[in-house]
Amino acid sequence: MKIAVVGANGQLGTEIVKVFADEIVISLIQSDIEISEIGSVKKAFAKNQPDVVINTASFLNVELCEREREKAFLVNETGALNLAMVLEEQKIPLLHISTDYVFDGLKKSPYEENDTPNPLNVYGASKLAGERAIQANCSRHYIVRTSGLYGHAPCLGKGANFIEKILARSKEKSELRVVDDEVLTPTYTLDLARQIRALVKTGGYGLYHATNNGSCSWFEFAREVLRLAGSSTRIVPVSSKEYPSEVRRPAYSVLSNSHLASIDLDRMPQWQESLAAYFE
Ligand SMILES: NC(=O)c1ccc[n+]([C@@H]2O[C@H](COP(=O)([O-])OP(=O)(O)OC[C@H]3O[C@@H](n4cnc5c(N)ncnc54)[C@H](OP(=O)(O)O)[C@@H]3O)[C@@H](O)[C@H]2O)c1
Repeated sequence: MKIAVVGANGQLGTEIVKVFADEIVISLIQSDIEISEIGSVKKAFAKNQPDVVINTASFLNVELCEREREKAFLVNETGALNLAMVLEEQKIPLLHISTDYVFDGLKKSPYEENDTPNPLNVYGASKLAGERAIQANCSRHYIVRTSGLYGHAPCLGKGANFIEKILARSKEKSELRVVDDEVLTPTYTLDLARQIRALVKTGGYGLYHATNNGSCSWFEFAREVLRLAGSSTRIVPVSSKEYPSEVRRPAYSVLSNSHLASIDLDRMPQWQESLAAYFE
């Protein structure tokens, strides 16, 4: 299989390139393809004719998206549309990464693929617009929503991942105060990359949720990080009101991998198991 990875130097892209190392991989970074420009997208796939394109590229800094609405939609909606149109013309399947932030967090049980999205912020709205552009313009698509990514490569849009930030702070402070009223599923990029590899070979196009299994608050996640690191730093659960933000975030954005499970393809381990694997 010949796979093109857009955003190949990003946190998830780096892991996808590694997981497909025994196949033919075309790694595309922003100097090779600017997804918001249709001419650049056409040029990138004029010579390279992959069997599938995996798009991880996104403008994903939630605070910046709020301030730079036009850019958020340009990259996350128009970028997705450009890929969809060019790949549809060439009959190349597109696997596109989306987010749990398409939901408003009011549900009290894990969101399934057929739950109605209702984003609370510009990032979520622009990612949902991207999903819809792909659904309307690319017949061979997989849309994979995920959440709380961490991996060994840094997130280019946001910097160090949550784990590394907690570990760094635990060395500077005797007490950490972490929000306990935002619940999600932290997801290890290595697991997600392996899941994507399994999915992309099925030809079963559609919308998928793919996160590690289980859920926790940011506080519970940080507590487990400190435990695994053997840190004695005290950790205290606090309300998100303690950290006022210009951006509204869903209080509960746990996703159920229902579609994957229905085709017997849910390969995602429990989040605690994956976090321990990350530490190894
Ligand atoms: N990180 C999370 O916690 C999280 C949670 C849920 C969903 N997601 C989704 O997962 C995907 C991957 O995220 P990630 O953590 O791997 O992010 P990342 O490390 O910031 O990687 C994003 C990649 O996109 C590239 N890119 C950005 N704008 C582009 C443009 N206009 N044209 C071409 N390439 C562009 C970046 O390249 P440059 O840096 O060179 O611009 C980078 O390689 C995204 O779709 C994101 O929405 C992430």
